[in-house]
Amino acid sequence: MTSLRPAGSVNYDNSGRVVLVSGGANGIGRAVCEAWLASGASVVCMDVDDSAANNFSTQIAFVRGDTSVEDDCKNAVAFTVDQFGALDVLVNNAAIQPRSSYVPLHELTAELWDRMIGVNMSGYTFMAKHAVPVMLAQRSGVIVNLASGQAHRTAREVPAYGPIKAANLMQTRQWGVEYARQGIRVVSVSPGCIDTPMVRASLDAQGGEHEIAHRHPVGRIGKPEEIAAAVLWLASAAASFVTATDLEVDGGLGAFGAFADPYPAQ
Ligand SMILES: NC(=O)c1ccc[n+]([C@@H]2O[C@H](COP(=O)([O-])OP(=O)(O)OC[C@H]3O[C@@H](n4cnc5c(N)ncnc54)[C@H](O)[C@@H]3O)[C@@H](O)[C@H]2O)c1
Repeated sequence: MTSLRPAGSVNYDNSGRVVLVSGGANGIGRAVCEAWLASGASVVCMDVDDSAANNFSTQIAFVRGDTSVEDDCKNAVAFTVDQFGALDVLVNNAAIQPRSSYVPLHELTAELWDRMIGVNMSGYTFMAKHAVPVMLAQRSGVIVNLASGQAHRTAREVPAYGPIKAANLMQTRQWGVEYARQGIRVVSVSPGCIDTPMVRASLDAQGGEHEIAHRHPVGRIGKPEEIAAAVLWLASAAASFVTATDLEVDGGLGAFGAFADPYPAQ
């Protein structure tokens, strides 16, 4: 049995759909933008990083904005509707986890706490708040929030990121319940460790990805495209009965408890 069995393939047709992705210039957000574009959608990326956005497909529209600033979120939604006449999918993805946030609680500064609340939580609320009226008028729409495995379980020295990511799960439930009868679905994705600029610096600082890869039952960390694939499925008609809930896309990491036997060293 050495022959490779076919894995199957998924082909989405998202032509005519309009998607707004926050933090789409790098990492997971970038892969999400590219996957939507490849499936035929009209894509708007909102990001603070216009230099990274400069070198991705000119077919992806870019609007500069900071999600922690409500007016920037309002502007990004208005820009999207202005350009493409609709807003079918909002992907709340922009978030920060600075190295300086990896401290015990008593060393966390109020400035950093406020900044992380501003981007990782308020940013999601502001984007959704301005997207929802457009979706209500359309009587359809999907909001996908990027949460995290750390929204479900934690480690030492994540006193801000963990609790604030957990809030993304409740935003998903709250808005999902609120708008379920009006054609709007709200879902979240909780990634395991994914190879993006956000984690690359800390992986390199800790001597590479071997250790964290080993902790994932599949034996490796994830790729941004694997999260993008989950986002596309959740926002598709195939997931029409899925709302107000979360999907962990983590190579089995979340199921691997502290009492589990470690895998043999490789
Ligand atoms: N990479 C992982 O292992 C991992 C794991 C779990 C969850 N996540 C979540 O996935 C999402 C994407 O993470 P990533 O690893 O791709 O991050 P990243 O740091 O690689 O990219 C984040 C993007 O967001 C942009 N951004 C940051 N602050 C912004 C703001 N205020 N307004 C607009 N844009 C802003 C950045 O410029 C960047 O383009 C985040 O919500 C993160 O919490 C990532």
